[in-house]
Amino acid sequence: MSIQSIQTISTQPFSGQKPGTSGLRKSVPTFQQPHYLQNFVQSIFDSLEDYQGQTLVVGGDGRYFNRDATQIILKMAAANGFGRVKVGQHGILSTPATSCVIRKYNALGGIILSASHNPGGSNGDFGIKYNTGNGGPAPEKVTEAMFARSKTITEYKILAAADVDLDTLGELTLGDMVVEVIDSVADYQELMESLFDFDRIRTLLTDGGFRMCMDSLHAVTGPYAYAIFEQRLGAPAGTVQNGVPLEDFGGGHPDPNLVYAHDLVDVLFGENAPDFGAASDGDGDRNMILGHHFFVNPSDSLAILAANAKLVPGYKDGLAGIARSMPTSAAADRVAARLGIACFETPTGWKFFGNLLDAGKATLCGEESFGTGSNHIREKDGLWAVLFWLNILAVRQQSVEAIVQEHWQIYGRNFYSRHDYEGVDSDRAQALVDHVHAQMPTLKGKTFGAYEVDYADDFGYTDPIDGSISKNQGIRIGFTDGSRLVLRLSGTGTQGATLRLYLESYEPNIAKHTLDPQVALGGLIEIAEELAQIKSFTGMDKPTVIT
Ligand code: G1P
Ligand code: ZN
Repeated sequence: MSIQSIQTISTQPFSGQKPGTSGLRKSVPTFQQPHYLQNFVQSIFDSLEDYQGQTLVVGGDGRYFNRDATQIILKMAAANGFGRVKVGQHGILSTPATSCVIRKYNALGGIILSASHNPGGSNGDFGIKYNTGNGGPAPEKVTEAMFARSKTITEYKILAAADVDLDTLGELTLGDMVVEVIDSVADYQELMESLFDFDRIRTLLTDGGFRMCMDSLHAVTGPYAYAIFEQRLGAPAGTVQNGVPLEDFGGGHPDPNLVYAHDLVDVLFGENAPDFGAASDGDGDRNMILGHHFFVNPSDSLAILAANAKLVPGYKDGLAGIARSMPTSAAADRVAARLGIACFETPTGWKFFGNLLDAGKATLCGEESFGTGSNHIREKDGLWAVLFWLNILAVRQQSVEAIVQEHWQIYGRNFYSRHDYEGVDSDRAQALVDHVHAQMPTLKGKTFGAYEVDYADDFGYTDPIDGSISKNQGIRIGFTDGSRLVLRLSGTGTQGATLRLYLESYEPNIAKHTLDPQVALGGLIEIAEELAQIKSFTGMDKPTVIT
């Protein structure tokens, strides 16, 4: 046996290797079972066509098991006949950077090792996701093929070889395959420089009047944020906090929202607060934007980026269209209407934006779940959103709050909130959904206080580009005044079920724009409880996270 021989290992299928909203996510111990990761990786490869000799991009968010998994994937790619793997140094590439690298180098696709915003560590979560040659998450027909393969798999191929040095930049060989260890930041930074006015942002960050704070939550964007904000754009040392990626994210929950990014919230809502704050998640695709004592709702953020896009070099010629996920507020629709461009409503999950972006129908996309992005890649992009905001702030020379309030004055305010009930017993969560489903046929025309139900349905989507149909994407209850309730179960959790309740109402009256959203949405919150009996089904008297 040569030192690097291809081994064919017998295996048996594992149940439950079904990719969810964003790839296969399970606990680390599940992934550490012998053959578990290997089975899924082989199922990915077996679902691809013509990959012999092709280039694959591999990277992850640096969480526990990232390095081990990277080594396994490299050896399996070599044994299966890939020509080249571009892998991030130390096994690290943010999700947006992976998308960027796949596109820039015309790779066949990429594998991203991440469980996004889920906690990490030896008992935390791990995840694996395949992105196609456009740089975006594999569409459902591809993930379904992988799942089908995982149910019949009998063997996988792996190279018997020593581990690869992932820490030194450069090329080496693994069997007949070239492994190229690439700088995790360089390609991504170059793309950002092509889109934004770095000179102007640099002036904003260095002329003394403006202060920002970036919280990377000990996750993947640390190295990117240091390189871009502190080194390239001249922000003072210390601008980036929690910037060293840790395998367990420092024990935190790397989700940029008001609950989990509390360090940043304390800074921005504290004494002597800076003008601008931002956070990103485990793998760098989410963002939260804060002003001085001010929170920007992600749905509003999408609308504001769209309304101000012409101020930013990469978007100065205007937008082809906007796309938002169904639960995201309709604030962006109002901007699209005024711009005279289309606004598409897609199911939850970034993969549904891919076709619209590829076809040139949409330029900006967003989800209420702290996700915003554009046609520059095929993933949502946390630091891109931060740079977009900085570019707007540098041009407009107003505070974040002033920009948001001015936006509401022009377009009206879409009050919006999401209530999450995490860790609910799966059967009880399903029973709640069934309970609401059963009422749906009789809801139209029914009144609840001042609200009258206009429609009640389960959202279905027909992709306008390829005609593919996705059903049961969330219960929608719309009222005649345009308010909405949406209920759906999360597809990214790994423990029990997470119920998400989305609430939206529209307020044109400027005098009411300063209301607390929980107050403005109070009536809808009561109706949701009446319809869904959330307290009794979940056994919780309040949500675990409110955003
Ligand atoms: C959640 C978000 C969704 C996002 C996904 C991946 O999915 O709601 O918008 O695309 O994470 O970041 P969910 O857990 O709701 O299925
Ligand atoms: Zn993420």
